Amino acid sequence: MSDILSGLKDGVLTLTLNRPGKKNALTRAMYQSLTEGLQLASENSDIRVVIIAGEGKDFCSGNDILDFAQDLPALSDTTRDHDAAPVFQFLKALAYFPKPLIAAVQGLAVGVGVTLLLHCDLVVAADDVRLSLPFLKLGLVPEAGSTLLLPERIGHARTFAWMALGETIEADDALKLGLINRHVAADTLLAAANDLALKLTRLSPSSLSQTKSLMRDPDKIWQVIQREGAIFRKQLQSPEAQAAFMAFLSRG
Ligand code: COA
Repeated sequence: MSDILSGLKDGVLTLTLNRPGKKNALTRAMYQSLTEGLQLASENSDIRVVIIAGEGKDFCSGNDILDFAQDLPALSDTTRDHDAAPVFQFLKALAYFPKPLIAAVQGLAVGVGVTLLLHCDLVVAADDVRLSLPFLKLGLVPEAGSTLLLPERIGHARTFAWMALGETIEADDALKLGLINRHVAADTLLAAANDLALKLTRLSPSSLSQTKSLMRDPDKIWQVIQREGAIFRKQLQSPEAQAAFMAFLSRG
């Protein structure tokens, strides 16, 4: 079975991260399927809204760490077009996605499992949600445009504290900070996300996409994603990052 499930109903495409045994850690193949899903949704007028959800108890434990470790040899190759890597294609598709995007988030959301939420127009969380950004702890830098989008959303001081001190943000604080729109009981999460999606399907697609493009500048976001990416790749090769990955991969 695919690690990304996709289902279309009543104009709502739901893309579900389906690797619950690994807490939905994102692999290259998953980024690729997500990109294809977003591209299909951009082009197909029957799709009015997209929901991103996660199977199991947790939304997403971030990028797959084994993939990070395996990418290391290719990173120093300057002849490669790194922006063509599946993760960057996904981030580009997210940044430029013209239709309403809703996230339904439960349990743990880590790393890119959090930063992707900054590209969503509505975020519904389960009461047990816990958001964390371990990039600095891993010797990396934040990505996915989060160095632009997060300070814009919650201010510099809170962003820096969250990124550097490794705090975990829970549902009530996430709501107060404007990181999520609401939190609900875990067993009603998908229904709540679907209700919102159906409300959006009743609005004019062009006014929705125009409103979205008035509110955010994808070119600017994509430039930041590329700048972050270049530094991220360097940091991936740092001794601190390599030690952090080895420590994770060799856990007993
Ligand atoms: N990449 C690859 N595998 C991951 C993963 C990741 N990002 N996150 C979790 N997994 C795997 C674990 O290795 C474990 O696999 P196994 O059962 O085959 O050993 C499984 O998912 C369950 O995770 P586990 O660590 O046992 O659960 P936990 O509840 O004790 O801890 C986390 C959950 C998310 C706190 C912990 O797994 C973790 O720190 N993951 C890494 C998060 C991270 O740094 N992501 C990258 C951000 S840039």
